[in-house]
Amino acid sequence: MGRIAIFTDDPGWHGKQLSLAFANLGYSIDFVSLTLCSFAIKPGQSPITIPGFEHDMPDAAFVRGVPGGSLEEVVLYLDFLHALKLMGIPVYNDGYAVERSVDKGMTSFLLHNAGLPTPLTWVLRNRDDALSIAESELKKGNLLITKPLFGSQGEGIRRLEKTTDLIWLTGSHGVYYLQRFVHCSGEGFSDNRVFVVNGRAVAAMRRRGKSWLNNVARGASCEQIELDAEMAELAVKATAALAMDYAGVDIIQDKDGQYTIIEVNSIPAWKGLESVCDVTIAQILADDLINRYVNAL
Ligand SMILES: Nc1ncnc2c1ncn2[C@@H]1O[C@H](COP(=O)(O)OP(=O)(O)O)[C@@H](O)[C@H]1O
Ligand SMILES: [Mg+2]
Repeated sequence: MGRIAIFTDDPGWHGKQLSLAFANLGYSIDFVSLTLCSFAIKPGQSPITIPGFEHDMPDAAFVRGVPGGSLEEVVLYLDFLHALKLMGIPVYNDGYAVERSVDKGMTSFLLHNAGLPTPLTWVLRNRDDALSIAESELKKGNLLITKPLFGSQGEGIRRLEKTTDLIWLTGSHGVYYLQRFVHCSGEGFSDNRVFVVNGRAVAAMRRRGKSWLNNVARGASCEQIELDAEMAELAVKATAALAMDYAGVDIIQDKDGQYTIIEVNSIPAWKGLESVCDVTIAQILADDLINRYVNAL
């Protein structure tokens, strides 16, 4: 029986789903925290120690969570992912994909660089410049969103609506990420989450927030939608622009009906999505990893 390492500190529902999906393919899984891995660079032995895989390296690694921490800690966790891949072990999504998408500044750049629609965004160090950008945007009648460079699940995101809000303009560890707020179409607040696997949009939903923050982790409800070809194509192109095996792509439809890509997640959750879609995401992911990478070795 083959063995897959799932990197996570919180296996939960997703871990259970993945373990069932891999079992269907004849693979057992071990949950491993990246915080417990280590390098030992010595001749004649494997340079990486993964708890539970002391004798045999895994057939593949599935990345479900990279813990936060100091820059050094996070770099070390990513180093393990990079090293495993260099040792010929498939890593899904790989360290580079995780790196690119965890960094919202890089995500915005890569989307724009690929010619994809994404909101006007500024990422900078200087507070005075950030303040003058924000003032000028507010004067033009635009609202601004500020985000931590490395945030997820809606954490630390603020909306600047008037000049007095500028007192809330805080950088995240010295970096300002400012983005023009996109007013969504339809009633209330919503955006879309499209799940892409191996270049194909396999599921989608609308997320309806209690306020403008449409993260499921912030209480947004999930609604079934028909995935139209235009949104599917954008999600697939966004995933390709960030070179990911699979991704959860956040897309807002603005008041004029135009789609714009907010972010591309390399470690997306899919519990909410599956509650409104008739797909088994864990099986699609396990099939893709095993067929495209493990069986290809
Ligand atoms: N430029 C924007 N315009 C309108 N809403 C936004 C914008 N950026 C983010 N949001 C809202 O905030 C949510 C979280 O932002 P996102 O960039 O996806 O960060 P996170 O990684 O925390 O999910 C989005 O799903 C959306 O509802
Ligand atoms: Mg998001």
